Amino acid sequence: MVRVLVSAASPTMELLSQTLQVLPFVEIVTATGSIREAVDMAVLETLDAMIIDESLLSDSWGLQDRLARAVCPVILIIAAPDAESTRRALAIHAIDAITQDAIASLLPPLLRSFDKSTEQGTLPHRVIGVYSPKGGVGKTTLAVNLAWSLARFSERTTALVDLDLQFGDIGPMVHDSPDITIRDLVEDSKGRVEEDKLSRALIAVDGLPLDLLLAPFNPQYADLVESHHIKEILMQLKSSHVYTLCDLPAALTDQNLSAMDQLDVLMVVATPEMITLRNVARSLKVLQTLYPDPNKIRMVINRSGTGVPPERIQELIPLKVSYWTPSGGVSPVRSANTGKPLVVLDPANALSISIENIAKMLLEEFEGASRRTVRKDVL
Ligand SMILES: Nc1ncnc2c1ncn2[C@@H]1O[C@H](COP(=O)(O)OP(=O)(O)OP(=O)(O)O)[C@@H](O)[C@H]1O
Ligand SMILES: [Mg+2]
Repeated sequence: MVRVLVSAASPTMELLSQTLQVLPFVEIVTATGSIREAVDMAVLETLDAMIIDESLLSDSWGLQDRLARAVCPVILIIAAPDAESTRRALAIHAIDAITQDAIASLLPPLLRSFDKSTEQGTLPHRVIGVYSPKGGVGKTTLAVNLAWSLARFSERTTALVDLDLQFGDIGPMVHDSPDITIRDLVEDSKGRVEEDKLSRALIAVDGLPLDLLLAPFNPQYADLVESHHIKEILMQLKSSHVYTLCDLPAALTDQNLSAMDQLDVLMVVATPEMITLRNVARSLKVLQTLYPDPNKIRMVINRSGTGVPPERIQELIPLKVSYWTPSGGVSPVRSANTGKPLVVLDPANALSISIENIAKMLLEEFEGASRRTVRKDVL
């Protein structure tokens, strides 16, 4: 059950009542025309959301600070998506701003996303891998920034695993001095990967529901990790995390194939260069035979617009390109050097925006258009 407090004036209150009263998963704890009463009630009640009519905010500046500090999410109902409403939504830290005429269509799915009974347990968990037969095309950049974006937008448990066991560089890219890696997880394991060992090997990222599992520091330890370890690690992560991202090495080894077997989505990355595209086309034919599910393999062209034109790329690649990511200029290199993901270091960068959009598209696909992340664009 989602417990909501509604504070609105007429006719917004009537519109909200009509919509909310027929939702079986919603309980209206309080409905009031006084914003002051609403803010006072919010402290006393256990709420899952507050729905506030923007028109009540116009002469209540003192209360906006208290709304911004509300412990539950605040949804603002606005007359029109103009600059003034956006500013107000930001001032009270609203998680979404919904126009009056979109209440019936957008509010129910948004509130449903607060329903604890439909949380993680019932969501289908997904494992996504990033691969390319060619090195240096941007696999790690995509995997890292996609993991950050998925965790941030979905607010769901996410894991990022560096399966580039010999030369994995997620550690140095985003974490200063990692002290635990996959090596610690499989060493001395008599065949099975123990669940508590796995949870101890995960490095939590501050401020996000994101855990990292890093590759061994030394390439010589890569062979300690066998195919069955990889299978077990991914199966366990899939049960404990809603989203798991894997950065995969360039070779089609047994280890790598055992990871690919576990994937729901396999992103194959290429840059718009003739040799890379030919290599990718060849390995796509193998992958398509191994994984005939048309939804599993997704083609990504990184640094698009910097080489072979899109029409020619599409002629060379035996699969429709799903995602095009642009050049990020010098920022991706700066990001790797400073140990901060690009989406954190330079969120306005074209590559950051493009990878965030891929994350949003994936979330829309996995969780439906109801995700509030999609609506956040309005703010
Ligand atoms: N779209 C882009 N625009 C600009 N620079 C990029 C872009 N994508 C990746 N880079 C840069 O290119 C280099 C290689 O990227 P990255 O390490 O992600 O590739 P990779 O495929 O994981 O390489 P490897 O095969 O070595 O693991 C990095 O310096 C990265 O910052
Ligand atoms: Mg890499």
